[in-house]
Amino acid sequence: MRVAIVQNAPAFGQVRANVKTAIEMMDAAGPFDLAVLPELFSTGYLFRDAGETAALAEPLPGGQAFAMLAAYASKRGIRICAGIAEEASGRLFNSAVLLGPSGMLAKYRKIHLFDTEKACFSPGDLPFTAADCGGFKAGIMICFDWIFPEAARTLALLGCSVILHPANLVFPYCPPAMATRAIENRVFTVTANRVGEERGRKFSGGSVIWSPRMENILTCPDAEGAFVAEIEPAEAESKNITGRNNLFEDRRPEMYGL
Ligand code: ACM
Repeated sequence: MRVAIVQNAPAFGQVRANVKTAIEMMDAAGPFDLAVLPELFSTGYLFRDAGETAALAEPLPGGQAFAMLAAYASKRGIRICAGIAEEASGRLFNSAVLLGPSGMLAKYRKIHLFDTEKACFSPGDLPFTAADCGGFKAGIMICFDWIFPEAARTLALLGCSVILHPANLVFPYCPPAMATRAIENRVFTVTANRVGEERGRKFSGGSVIWSPRMENILTCPDAEGAFVAEIEPAEAESKNITGRNNLFEDRRPEMYGL
């Protein structure tokens, strides 16, 4: 399966133009099956307050960025995971969707909000889910969720072979740390980080794909564009570590209580 990581540099608030640019990058990438775009790829990241977020958030499904990406996924017969600011009954979420050729396969609302996001979004209120991608399952977590091992573990226990991870990274720790999320769960991780500068903060790409054996399948440069790599989700199915050790069967949840 060919995976495209799209590193865009959104112009703050320019939703239509940002989605159009991301689609042009995917057009230029050639054939692939699944694209992963950054967190809040259509709006930009550094909202000043909830009022500014409300002005740019959209219903999921139904909003402008959603509709443009859904049409593109349908036209190309691909899947796309992308981070979009969501408005739902007056509440605002830092969300991401997984779209397939026939519509939405999954929606996730960021559970662990980072820093100023707490003033601009409500914490996610939906459980982690595994989306059926025809032959394998994929699940979504967003950026800062990475530092809570429970997020990736939950997705792995739900049966996900691939963790889709839209991000807007502000610290350098995440890309190498995702190797641990991959090996400790025997899954593929696909972290899509943005590039460019916004309101004085620089984002530097470096998106990564790690394999269930902790191989670095792809590390992107600090540049706009879509970068494609090949993965085989079936490699994440076996959780055997040795002849006597299975990652999930050897867990001792009864010993983990505090
Ligand atoms: C982050 O969660 N965007 C750092």
